[in-house]
Amino acid sequence: MAEATKVAVVTGASSGIGYELAKLCLEHGYDVVISSDTVEIEHAAAQLRQLGGTVDVVQADLSTTQGVDQLYQAVQAKGRPVDVLMANAGRGLGRAFLDQDFADITKVINLNVVGTTYLLHRFVRDMRDRNAGKVLITGSIAGLMPGAFQAVYNATKAYVDSFSFALRNELKDTDVTVTVLMPGPTDTDFFEVADLMDTKVGTDKKTPADKVAKDGFEAMMRGDGHEVSGFSNKMQALMANVTPDKHLAEMHRKLAEPGTAKH
Ligand SMILES: NC(=O)c1ccc[n+]([C@@H]2O[C@H](COP(=O)([O-])OP(=O)(O)OC[C@H]3O[C@@H](n4cnc5c(N)ncnc54)[C@H](OP(=O)(O)O)[C@@H]3O)[C@@H](O)[C@H]2O)c1
Repeated sequence: MAEATKVAVVTGASSGIGYELAKLCLEHGYDVVISSDTVEIEHAAAQLRQLGGTVDVVQADLSTTQGVDQLYQAVQAKGRPVDVLMANAGRGLGRAFLDQDFADITKVINLNVVGTTYLLHRFVRDMRDRNAGKVLITGSIAGLMPGAFQAVYNATKAYVDSFSFALRNELKDTDVTVTVLMPGPTDTDFFEVADLMDTKVGTDKKTPADKVAKDGFEAMMRGDGHEVSGFSNKMQALMANVTPDKHLAEMHRKLAEPGTAKH
C-alpha cells in the first residue's frame, strides 16, 4: 500500500514567512492545513492550490484558546496525524509602551505567547504520544534584545525563543524535534501591521520572506535547534549574547523609535 501523504499545519500562512513555509511544505509533498484570522487565508489558499497538492483552510483567531481549539479540531477531523507543525502566527507592535493602546498590547501577548503556547500544548502532545513529528516555531532575533519602542513584542519573542529551546530539551529522548526560526528584519506586512513605517527598522532593506522560510524549513528538516537566517543577523545574534542589555536597548531605540526612518 502506498504511504499516505504527510500533513503539515502552518499558522499565520496568509502572507509573509508563513505563506512561504506553506509553499515549501507543498513543494516537498506535504498536504497542508493553513490558518490565520482573516479572509486573507482563503486568498492564500487559492494561490497555493495552483502548486498542486491539498490545501485545507481554517480561519481562526489563534490569540484565543477557542481559535486554537477550532484549528486542532479541524485537523483532528481529518483523521490523519500531523507530521509537521509550524507555529508561525505572530504580530508586532511599535511605538513607546506608554503610548500603545492596552487592547493592542493584549492582542500581541495573547497571540505570540498564550496562543502559541496553547497551540504547542495541544499538537505536540499528540506528536510525543506517536513519537514522531517536526515542529518549527517562529521566534526572532528580537527575542535576544530589549526592544525599546517595541518593548512588548521583543519580550514576547524572548519568551518564544526561550520556550522553544526548553521544549526541545524536554523532548530530546523522543523522535520529535523542535526548531526555532529566529529571523531578523524580513520583507513582509509585519512592519505595516505593527505601525513601524516611520522607523529605521521599518524602512531599511530586509531579507526576502522566501529566503527566511527556506532557511527555517531546511533547519527543521535537519532537526536543528535553531536557525538565525542571514549572515548579518547571525552576527547580530552573536553580538547580543555579549552586549549589556542597556546598550542593546539603546541600539534598538535607534532602529525602532518613531521618526528614525530615512526620508
Ligand atoms: N517580518 C519580520 O521582520 C520578522 C522578524 C522576526 C520574526 N518574525 C515573525 O514571523 C512571523 C510571521 O510574520 P511575518 O513577518 O510573515 O508577518 P505577516 O506577513 O504580517 O504575517 C503574520 C501572519 O500572522 C497571522 N495572524 C495575525 N494575527 C493573527 C491571529 N490573531 N490569529 C491567527 N493568525 C494571525 C496573519 O494573518 P492575517 O493576515 O489573516 O491577520 C499572517 O498570516 C511572526 O511570528 C513574526 O513575529 C517576523
